[in-house]
This record gives sequence, structure tokens and C-alpha cells, in this order.
Amino acid sequence: MRLFTVLLKNTPKIEYYSRFSPSPLSIKQFLEFGRDNACEKTSFMFLRKELPVRLANTMREVNLLPDNLLSQPSIKLVQKWYMQSFVELLGYENRKPEDPQALNDFLELLIEIRNRHNDVVPTMAQGVIEYKEKFGFDPFISSNIQYFLDRFYTNRISFRMLINQHTLLFGNDTNPAHPKHIGSIDPTCNVAEVVKDAYETAKMLCEQYYLAAPALQIQEFNMKQDKDKSIQAVYVPSHLFHMLFELFKNSMRASVELHEDSKEGLPPVKAKVTLGKEDLSIKISDRGGGVPLRKIDRLFNYMYSTAPTPSLEPSNTVPLAGFGYGLPISRLYARYFQGDLKLYSMEGVGTDAVIYLKALSSESFERLPVFNKSAWRHYQTSPEADDWSNPSKEPRDTSKSNYKANR
Ligand SMILES: Nc1ncnc2c1ncn2[C@@H]1O[C@H](COP(=O)(O)OP(=O)(O)O)[C@@H](O)[C@H]1O
Ligand SMILES: [Mg+2]
Repeated sequence: MRLFTVLLKNTPKIEYYSRFSPSPLSIKQFLEFGRDNACEKTSFMFLRKELPVRLANTMREVNLLPDNLLSQPSIKLVQKWYMQSFVELLGYENRKPEDPQALNDFLELLIEIRNRHNDVVPTMAQGVIEYKEKFGFDPFISSNIQYFLDRFYTNRISFRMLINQHTLLFGNDTNPAHPKHIGSIDPTCNVAEVVKDAYETAKMLCEQYYLAAPALQIQEFNMKQDKDKSIQAVYVPSHLFHMLFELFKNSMRASVELHEDSKEGLPPVKAKVTLGKEDLSIKISDRGGGVPLRKIDRLFNYMYSTAPTPSLEPSNTVPLAGFGYGLPISRLYARYFQGDLKLYSMEGVGTDAVIYLKALSSESFERLPVFNKSAWRHYQTSPEADDWSNPSKEPRDTSKSNYKANR
């Protein structure tokens, strides 16, 4: 009831802010702003508008989900968090940037909001599971949920990026271990180091489960920078770590499960880091038996995992696999700064997963969902009839030839 009242009161504000499109920033812009005497007032004035704009855009889209999904308690909880954060941010519409108290309060509010939204992903996932259990699987709704979650989680990644930049630059939570970082960005991020870090962390988990883990081999091909120097990126190392950690966990699980009983031992997982003019690419290759082509797209689906679903109750053990969120969320991180994540598999042998990043920070613009007519239309139109032949629906061949019948 309370949510409803708050919602009703603030609906005009949500509509107002959702009419603005989010303003995407490039890594270069984040960096330059943070490096040259970053001004807290400027950041405050930008964020007090930009954060409500990004929230309102995604809140309008949540409302387009099917009623049966919206009525799940977990989804309502997530909506409540968004509403509360939106309303609290509106409290700064008229505060003066010259007032140091306003700046301090704002910084504290951002930290509170970040904490409030910590569990959005598992809570949303819980809502979708509840919905699926009650109402079953409908391909149209399922493709809408997929479309929605990709956009919703991208919005969340961007929201946290903005909050982190502000709190790291102007708050007390600067990380003394990384004095060269500008907020969450490392201007000279050694990619192979992050690869090793992610590998070591995944290896520890893998050894806990299987008592063994494949070795790592790293190669670098630097076509642009000094050939003997290791490849550097201007990037958010935590994003890169997230993607690599997920890929290593998958590669390790597949490798160990396929080779557990083989005498030759575990084949190593190979990482190749390359830098060209446009792309910085990282390939993780395993010999874990691969995935048939038919199933590749499915791996990026939020509803798909071949591992048993781990318990949602908080526990001390981190699962190696299970929610099926590893790949889809990693791909969102890659796409967020105009990169991508692709899987190439050869069934029977193994899988290559490639992370593509933009080599230039001036090209790494945030890729943000916008709530507009065409997004709206996406939720309304029902699926088109299939316009390619479907073997099971083909008319019976009455001719003598049994070519078709035998296919
Ligand atoms: N390198 C790989 N080799 C074989 N199968 C893979 C590989 N990577 C992913 N998969 C398959 O894709 C599924 C989804 O992966 P992911 O999104 O990471 O979720 P999870 O690992 O939680 O199941 C896995 O359950 C697995 O079946
Ligand atoms: Mg995984």
C-alpha cells in the first residue's frame, strides 16, 4: 500500500525525468574529469539530474512487465528500492552546490543507495524463478524478460559506475592500494595481470570442488604498443576481473568434468591477450568438450544453466556455477563500454570465449538503454510467425521419392 501511495505521488516526476535520455560518458571523459582537479560541485550538479534520469528510464520499463511478474514479492521489493532511491535523490533538486553540507549529505546518500541496491540481481532473479514456477514458460514472455533484464542490468552497471566515480573521487573510501586509479578506472591496467588474478581466484574455487584445476598459459600479441611491453588498457579492472573470473570458472568446470578420469591429466586453459588498432581482445580457450552450436545462444539466457541451482540463502560457500548468470552479465559488462563477449565452440573439443574491448578510451562510450517508443513497442508486439521452414511442420511428401521422408 505504501509503495502505491509513494508511486502515485511521484508518478509525474518519474514521467518528467524519463523524458530525458541518459547522457553516455566515455572512459576518456571519466578519466579527464577525475584527473584534472575533479570538481565535486560539478559532479554533484551532473549526478543530481543524471541519476534520476537513469532511474526513471528503467522504472518506466519495469512497469511494462507482465502483471503476474510485477506482483511477485521480490519484484515489488526491487521496485520499492528504486522508488526510495529516486525520491531521496529528488531531495537535492534545489540544494545549493555551494553548501558543503549538501555535498556531504549527497555523498552519504550515494553510499546508502549503492548498499540498498547491492542485492538487486539475485532478488530480481528470485522473482523470475517464482514467476516461472507459478506460471510456466511462455516463449514470448520469456524473450521479453530477456530483453528487459539485459537493459535493466546494464542500467544498474551504469548507475553504479557513476556512484563509484563520485564516492571514490570525493569520499574517504579511496583505495590506498591503487593510488594511480582514477575512481574505479586504472589508466594503465595491465591486462595479463588481471587475467592471472582472475585465474588464481577461480582456481581456488575449482580446487575446493574438484581437488584439481587446469594450469594457465598466457600469450600476448602487442601489435600497437612497444612489442615487448605487456598490454595495457584504460579500463575498469573490476569489470574485467568479473568477466574473466566467470570465463575461467566455466572453462575449469568443463575441463575437469571432461577429463576427470583421463590418464593424461588436465589440459591447460589458454589465455591470449591481443592489441590491435581498434580492438583489445582476450581469448580464453579450453579443451572442456565444448557446446553444440544449437545451444550457444541459450547460454546467454538468464533462465539457463546446466549446474544445479545453488541455494539463495546467504552462506559462506561461493558456488562455482549455478544461476546461469555468469555469461549474460559478463557480456553486459563487455558491451557497456562498446565491447562484446562471444563464444566459439567446437563440440567434442572445447570452447573459445573472446572478450572484445575498445582499444581507445575515447571510443569506450557507455552503451545505455533508453526508454522510448521503440522500447515500448518491443513489449507490445507479439512474435511474428516463423518465416523459415520447420522440418516437423513440412507437408507430407506423397511422391515415391523417400528423400524427404528420410531426412
Ligand atoms: N567453456 C565452456 N565449456 C562448456 N560449457 C560451457 C562453457 N561455458 C559455459 N558453458 C555452459 O554454459 C552454461 C551457462 O554458463 P554461465 O552463464 O556461466 O552459468 P553457470 O556457470 O552458472 O551455469 C553452463 O552451465 C555450461 O553448461
Ligand atoms: Mg558460470
